[in-house]
Amino acid sequence: MDGGGWALGNLESQKVQSLFVADMMGHMGYSVVNVAPADLVYGVDVLRQTALTNRFALVASNLRRKSTGKPVFDPYVIREVQGIRIGFLGVMNEGESLAPLSSDADSMLTIDPATAVRELLPALRAKVDLVVLFAHVSQRRTQQMCDEIKGIDLAVSGGDGFVNHKPTEVGNDSTGKSLILEAGQQGKYVGALKFVVSETGKILRYDHQMHSLDKNVKDDSLVAFKVGEFKNHLREVRKREAVEQAMGTEQAVSAPKQEKFLGAQMCARCHASAFESWKDSPHAKSMASLEHKQMESSAECLKCHVTGFNQPNGYPNSQAELGSVSCESCHGQGTLHGAGEFVARPAPQTCTTCHDAKNSPKFDYASYWARMAHQ
Ligand code: HEC
Ligand code: HEC
Ligand code: HEC
Ligand code: HEC
Repeated sequence: MDGGGWALGNLESQKVQSLFVADMMGHMGYSVVNVAPADLVYGVDVLRQTALTNRFALVASNLRRKSTGKPVFDPYVIREVQGIRIGFLGVMNEGESLAPLSSDADSMLTIDPATAVRELLPALRAKVDLVVLFAHVSQRRTQQMCDEIKGIDLAVSGGDGFVNHKPTEVGNDSTGKSLILEAGQQGKYVGALKFVVSETGKILRYDHQMHSLDKNVKDDSLVAFKVGEFKNHLREVRKREAVEQAMGTEQAVSAPKQEKFLGAQMCARCHASAFESWKDSPHAKSMASLEHKQMESSAECLKCHVTGFNQPNGYPNSQAELGSVSCESCHGQGTLHGAGEFVARPAPQTCTTCHDAKNSPKFDYASYWARMAHQ
């Protein structure tokens, strides 16, 4: 189980990373996951789909639809473990800003967590032996709830990100006791609680351990492999983001994108040596050849002598930048940088779209590339 709050933010790289974490939770067999405000950043549908794919249940006891007052996710979840029925509740602070970039944020609200738990508890208690509350609120507030609302056996507090090496006990044997646990953040700790429950659903004894997942804990080989694979993917996404940021068009992932030609100057910011070797090459001067023949407005010639002729955002946009056979004639649109469609290593066929028999009868890849090679 997890107290929620695994989503990082709205940049594409953050989304990719967050959804990977969710996938790994599924892989490791997480069963019940609380919804924290941050987890709504990609919208309710993405969250629901993520949970479905990874076969864990989401719980959110105090998150409601504004229009109907109905819960957005299950207000409680029941799991049977070794014959003991456990009910899970999950709350976040009321009035919390619900991931401002979530398109659904306006249609939801959070009510007072204590009120929500009080409302749900009688019905839940009737069905289960033990009640666990995920509280994505401060430690103090979790204690207060356990103290005031009787009937919470275990509370996992996550709002502060503290680590509790020993559970905090609230209440006493006659009124009922609650144990409060806190397992830090970013999955750096695994809290393990073993307990013996009486016929009447009271925790008689328990043994609690906090395991720090430091370098003494060996990586699981399959997870390590997946993390390695994922890191490569993340690097690609980050490259793409770097280009977008350099262009000043960092935008929400949800906005539809149109791929663009950026021009060699943009590439030069990070690929100085490739730019240096290109700028003195015949490719950089291909417009001059047309001007020489006074054919610089002629579509039949432009299609091989400029970048992205008549393609969206290609020449005749940005004539100074795109009026040559520049980087993106061979590598593809710059905004694809880091994505699968970006051409990292153009093939000889890329050359022969222009170097055809009619216009370049002597074309031979090896000798021609030797004259154009760049790092
Ligand atoms: C903000 C910096 C930045 C800009 C701007 C940029 N790149 Fe890159 N590019 C990188 C980085 C970083 C790498 C990765 C280097 C590596 O992995 O070794 C890279 C890799 C590449 C590669 C090799 C890809 C591969 O998988 O080996 C090509 C080709 C490339 N860039 C072309 C371009 C072109 C063309 C442009 C202009 C449209 C451009 N880059 C703009 C930073 C940039
Ligand atoms: C978008 C079209 C286009 C693509 C793609 C293209 N070229 Fe060219 N290339 C040209 C044009 C146009 C010229 C002539 C430039 C000028 O002098 O006006 C040229 C000139 C050259 C020259 C100089 C030839 C000379 O006589 O000096 C070499 C070498 C060359 N290209 C190699 C390549 C290689 C190698 C590739 C593939 C990796 C390639 N080109 C891809 C359009 C293209
Ligand atoms: C199918 C692509 C293509 C088209 C269309 C095309 N060119 Fe070229 N052009 C090339 C390539 C490739 C080269 C380089 C050939 C080589 O050196 O092997 C070139 C070279 C040239 C050169 C020689 C540059 C030099 O100094 O050697 C001139 C001039 C030229 N083209 C003018 C034109 C004109 C004018 C038109 C339109 C009537 C035209 N081209 C249409 C691809 C094309
Ligand atoms: C004529 C086509 C063409 C043009 C124009 C071109 N490239 Fe390339 N580029 C290639 C090819 C082909 C390769 C792959 C070479 C190889 O296989 O090692 C390449 C490789 C690269 C690499 C990867 C180098 C490496 O070893 O990882 C970078 C980065 C790059 N180009 C950047 C640029 C930039 C920046 C520009 C513009 C200033 C540019 N290219 C213009 C054809 C082109």
